[in-house]
Amino acid sequence: MFPQRWFPDRLEGRRTILRRHEPANLAAFKRWYADPEVVRLTRYQDGPMRPEEIERFFMARVLAPESLTFAIHVRATGRLIGTCAFSQVDGDNGSALFHITIGEKDCWGQGYGGEATELMLEHAFERLGLHRVGLSVFEFNERAIRSYRRVGFVVEGRAREAILRDGRWWDEIQMSILEEEWRERRRIRRHEADLAARLVGG
Ligand SMILES: CC(C)(COP(=O)(O)OP(=O)(O)OC[C@H]1O[C@@H](n2cnc3c(N)ncnc32)[C@H](O)[C@@H]1OP(=O)(O)O)[C@@H](O)C(=O)NCCC(=O)NCCS
Repeated sequence: MFPQRWFPDRLEGRRTILRRHEPANLAAFKRWYADPEVVRLTRYQDGPMRPEEIERFFMARVLAPESLTFAIHVRATGRLIGTCAFSQVDGDNGSALFHITIGEKDCWGQGYGGEATELMLEHAFERLGLHRVGLSVFEFNERAIRSYRRVGFVVEGRAREAILRDGRWWDEIQMSILEEEWRERRRIRRHEADLAARLVGG
């Protein structure tokens, strides 16, 4: 595979830009993954990551050249707001797992995560040639589930009562999107945009 194609310098959306991480982003990671609210939504363990754990993770999994991890920036300001990645990229079966964290909480629910996910799906299906992208999400993470549904992920299964949080058990939900589903959604979106443009044009 051509590295530039596999891992381009940037993926550009209307409101977000995904770029490769740089060493200076470690400070933001340390802040995000020490935050109890972020930790509650993203970690299997019920407690923040220790600073040295975050540093190890950042060096080994985020900065490593073979890791497919992108920093999420707001396009208008350049502000770094989060991170997203594919792990377990399996070329034999054409699949990968998707992960995303908008670490800056004032940016939740504004569509940035949804757009970053769309950019990653386009990359997966148009350039990496994948067939399927899957993810796991905790049952109580309603914002994430809504965001994933909006871009086309469907629930395909659940690990019942796999997560103990806030004194009760919750399911871990598995979601996925297949290449043909993504292409069909894109075809419909383009068709709708075309119709809208024709209506506006008279
Ligand atoms: C999950 C995450 C990536 C989603 O990105 P986002 O930019 O916040 O989400 P979006 O704005 O694209 O979409 C959020 C959706 O949830 C809805 N929503 C917003 N706040 C909500 C809340 N408190 N409860 C339920 N739904 C909520 C929004 O209305 C929107 O749905 P709609 O498009 O149908 O109207 C981001 O919130 C995040 O990183 N959260 C913390 C870490 C995390 O949970 N990571 C995912 C682990 S699997």
